[in-house]
This record gives sequence, C-alpha cells and structure tokens, in this order.
Amino acid sequence: MKKLIFCVFLSGILSGCAEEGLKDRAISFKQPHYFPQINFPEGNEPTHLRFELGKKLFYEVKLSKNEDLSCASCHRLPAAFTDGRAVSSFHENEFARNAPTLANLAWSPYFMSEGGVPTLELQALGPIHEKHELSLSMEELIDRLKSSENYSALSKAAYGRELDAFAITRALACFERALISGDSKFDRYYFLNSNDYSELEKQGMALFFSERTQCSSCHAGPFFTDYQFYSLGFEDSDIGLERRTYLASDRGKFKTPTLRNIELTAPYMHNGSMSSLEEVVSFYNEGGGQGATRETRIRKLNLSAEEERALVAFLETLTDWNFVQNEKFLAAEQD
Ligand code: HEC
Ligand code: HEC
Repeated sequence: MKKLIFCVFLSGILSGCAEEGLKDRAISFKQPHYFPQINFPEGNEPTHLRFELGKKLFYEVKLSKNEDLSCASCHRLPAAFTDGRAVSSFHENEFARNAPTLANLAWSPYFMSEGGVPTLELQALGPIHEKHELSLSMEELIDRLKSSENYSALSKAAYGRELDAFAITRALACFERALISGDSKFDRYYFLNSNDYSELEKQGMALFFSERTQCSSCHAGPFFTDYQFYSLGFEDSDIGLERRTYLASDRGKFKTPTLRNIELTAPYMHNGSMSSLEEVVSFYNEGGGQGATRETRIRKLNLSAEEERALVAFLETLTDWNFVQNEKFLAAEQD
C-alpha cells in the first residue's frame, strides 16, 4: 500500500500506478476523548486516499487563476491555518476579511462569519470561484488538473469516479475534517489532570469562566464557541450577518470564533484590527465598540491590570503545539 501511494505522489509513471490499481482503506482521525464524536456525511467517511487527495488539492496552486496561490496561502499550518495578515485578499480589494483558523471544523454546524454555508463540501466551492480568492471556474480547474497530474487515478480510487466537482469538494472537506486540535496546556490541566498550570493562568481561567466577564457564555464548550452571531460594537463597512438576513438589527454580527490556538492567529477580529491579545482583552474591558447592535454582555468589566494579564495568560494556554507541527498536514512532496 505504502509503495503505491509513493508511486502516485512521487514518480513520473503515474498511469502505471493506476493500472496496478490503487487500493483505498478507511481511516479514523485521532481525537481527544473530551471532544464529541464526529458525524461524517454519508459518502465522505474518511479514507486514506480521500485525505491524501484533499491535502494535495489544499496545497495545489493550480487552483488559482495565475497558478500562484492555494488554500494554504491564506490557511498556513504554523499559524493554525491562518495567514498573519489583517485581511486576506489577493485579486480585488472590495471585500476581505481576516482568515480564520480551520481547526476543528468537523464539529462546526455551518461555515463563514455569517454561517451561510451549510457544509464543508459546499464551502470549498467558495474560495475557488471567488474573485478575491482563487478566481477560477470549476470547469477550468478540472481541465487543468486532469491534463497535468494524475488526479484522475486518485479520484477514481477514492470516490469511484472521474475527477469532478463532487470529488474535489469532498476530498478538500475530508482533509479539513482531519484538522483536529485539542492537545493544549489547558486541555492537559482541565481534562487530563496535569499540574502544569501557573497561578496566573488559573486566575485567568477562573475569570474567563466567571459571571463577571461572561467570556465563556459565547466562547463556550470544548471548541470555545457557541456558533452564534454577535456584534462587539465594531462600526466598519462589513455588515456581517446582515449580508445574509437583510436585517439592520443583524448589522456587524459575526459568528463567535474559536479561541483554540488564539496565540498563533493574530491579528484578531473579522477585520484584523487588533494585533495582540492584550489589545483584545483591554477592548473587552473597556466595554467594546460603539455600534448600535452591540450585544448587552459586552460592557465595561473593570478588570485590573493584573486581571487583564491573567486573561491573556489563560488564552495563551490554548495553544496546541503538536497540531501546528504535525507534518501529516503539510504538503506531500511536490510532483
Ligand atoms: C485569499 C485568501 C484565502 C484563500 C486562498 C482561501 N481562503 Fe478560506 N477563508 C479566507 C477568509 C478571509 C475566510 C473568512 C470568510 C468569512 O469569515 O466570511 C475564509 C474562510 C474559510 C472557511 C470557513 C471557516 C469557518 O470557520 O467557517 C473554510 C472552511 C475555508 N476558508 C477553507 C478554504 C479552502 C478549502 C480553500 C481552498 C480551496 C480556501 N479556504 C482558500 C481566506 C482564504
Ligand atoms: C457576546 C458574546 C461574546 C462574549 C461575551 C465574548 N466574546 Fe470574544 N468574540 C465574540 C465574537 C462574536 C467575536 C468576533 C467578533 C468580530 O470578529 O467582529 C469574538 C472575538 C474574540 C477574540 C478574537 C478571535 C479571533 O480569532 O479574532 C478573542 C481573543 C476573544 N473574543 C476573547 C474573549 C474574551 C477573553 C472574552 C471575555 C472577556 C470574550 N471574548 C467575550 C463573542 C463574544
């Protein structure tokens, strides 16, 4: 099996591989026991070749018009699949947001800041077509991939069909569901009884879960999000949830983001307007922005300077170093 995969990815005699018959096998993704079970969509249960095809596509620059960008240009592993820029836009500047992490999307009930996309499979179509992202038509993409690489053989073995939009979107989603992150200092202390947690971190954790700050009422559960939409009071030109609902009362509302790996995903907020966690915590402490739709829980907190530092120290325990160094999520050797 290993040899066959090696053959597909590394050698020039790709059609020879297909003739030998690529064999696929089911795999399971390793996940912490304190995360719920993943419900995989029927027909896209994880297999070795689905994951490999998805990863190959994720790092494939042929997905972009000028063959210079891939999904990984904006979603980079060392930054927990973000890109370190305030907003991500390459081609046109009319609409751009901060690129979110792709960790733990297997549990997300819907996608994007307004939650307008129901599945990961469908989400993948967005960036390929979007003018400000990869900017290519699916027909063009399939032609390109079929002519230059042996994507067909992988697609047939993984999904039993010629490479098409179905296989491309499913494989990308299969790869993304594998991006599971739950091995932080916080997890080891909170779920696994480690003692490695400083007094300041403990103080920050208590504040985070307190009635006083109510951080955990929105950043809730094992993924630190309730998947609901709120305004923190920003008044920039991005109307957020209103784009989907057309309701002025939804202006400036965005999906609560996860806080896992938050230390690695600066800058922060949908518009990338904050460069550090200190800045974010002090923003909450001051009561957020002035926007009319600001959620009532966002109000002055009267935290001392030490309490602010404690909250930041707690947030920095949510980093999963093994996740961002996992070579399985890096591009395979280039063909
Ligand atoms: C030009 C930069 C860019 C590229 C290229 C890009 N993305 Fe994104 N991605 C973003 C931004 C910005 C958002 C946030 C959009 C929003 O919040 O509405 C996003 C959002 C997402 C989300 C939703 C995450 C969530 O929490 O709901 C997924 C999934 C995703 N991208 C996957 C991909 C895949 C797969 C590709 C390649 C096919 C890709 N992205 C290419 C910038 C990019
Ligand atoms: C009412 C719900 C709510 C409460 C309470 C709340 N947050 Fe948030 N948080 C959000 C939303 C929504 C965003 C994204 C806003 C945006 O991008 O416009 C966010 C963004 C963040 C970010 C930046 C995430 C990123 O990836 O850019 C951090 C860090 C954060 N919150 C920490 C906290 C802390 C610490 C507290 C408590 C002091 C807190 N939050 C309280 C809903 C909430």
